[in-house]
Amino acid sequence: MNPHSRRRFLAGSALAASAAGLGLSFPGRLLAAAEPPAGPLLTRPIPSSGQRLPVIGAGTSGSYDVAFDSPEYAQLQETVKRFFEGGGSVIDTAPNYGRSDEVVGRLLAEGGWRSKAFLATKIAADSAQAAKEQWAQSLRRLRTDKVELLQVHNLRDWRRQLPYARELQAQGGTKYVGVTHYTDAGLPELEAILRGEKLDFIQIHYSVNATGAAKTVLPLAQDKGVAVIVNRAFDDGRLFAKVKDVPLPAWAGEVGVTSWAQLFLKFAISHPAVTVVIPATGKPHRQVDQLKAGRGPLLSQAQQQELVQRFTA
Ligand SMILES: NC(=O)c1ccc[n+]([C@@H]2O[C@H](COP(=O)([O-])OP(=O)(O)OC[C@H]3O[C@@H](n4cnc5c(N)ncnc54)[C@H](OP(=O)(O)O)[C@@H]3O)[C@@H](O)[C@H]2O)c1
Repeated sequence: MNPHSRRRFLAGSALAASAAGLGLSFPGRLLAAAEPPAGPLLTRPIPSSGQRLPVIGAGTSGSYDVAFDSPEYAQLQETVKRFFEGGGSVIDTAPNYGRSDEVVGRLLAEGGWRSKAFLATKIAADSAQAAKEQWAQSLRRLRTDKVELLQVHNLRDWRRQLPYARELQAQGGTKYVGVTHYTDAGLPELEAILRGEKLDFIQIHYSVNATGAAKTVLPLAQDKGVAVIVNRAFDDGRLFAKVKDVPLPAWAGEVGVTSWAQLFLKFAISHPAVTVVIPATGKPHRQVDQLKAGRGPLLSQAQQQELVQRFTA
């Protein structure tokens, strides 16, 4: 953390501490009075095609695994409505996320959103036959005849499944292909695949408390012209426990940030290799908040470093 940023962070903490002492709640809001900037979401190009994607997408793991016609499903209807109305497009799901595939398929059909969605799903299988059956099932559940992105889940059986994904790409079943992982443990193999294979996308974990991808994989993806989707930007939600009642840095207002969720997402998209971040939520108000991260200035190097030091110390 540079001394200037550190001073401002500490000054912010002191102000918040005194606000808390006076019995005021949400002291962070006092420190970030500026409203997030309005206007369209930032977009980034997919290097292999030039197609631009809004930088804030939606994950579905857990948050979309709900029963049809439950109160949670009704909340998701509103969440997805706000996602598309707010300029979102990328939705990431997988055949092994419980009911998520079916829920996404029904939400998109009901809302008439399919044509606005950049739909990303996965192959999570260990044999050619299992992958073929799973793909047919995914299309049925997603209520579509093609997806925008098909990813090999967690590098599983990738030597067999990546060629299969390319086969489906050649047949028009998917526009793009990629591979995913979700922890630093997958980075060495991901790096080897990036060096040896032609990919449109990779999907990886990158967050204020897990920056291993920035060492090699993110710069390599940039060099190779591969789009990057960031998963687990909230560390599966665990980061929120660490910032409960903690004020935002004093400089948050300068970058149009009014919540920790926005700051965690803005951190992810501030890396120039990142194309889109896919936070999950099933709550409409959180969805609206997340979309605010895709507007206004990005974080400076010093601001990014300050956050990393804070969350990895
Ligand atoms: N190997 C892979 O391919 C792989 C692995 C992991 C993830 N992914 C993809 O990446 C997406 C994102 O990762 P993730 O879902 O694991 O983790 P995440 O986006 O880091 O965190 C999602 C969790 O944070 C909670 N949350 C969201 N906003 C919040 C807020 N403002 N305050 C408190 N809690 C909040 C959500 O709960 P609510 O729903 O209650 O808001 C949810 O439980 C996944 O959904 C999936 O699509 C892919």
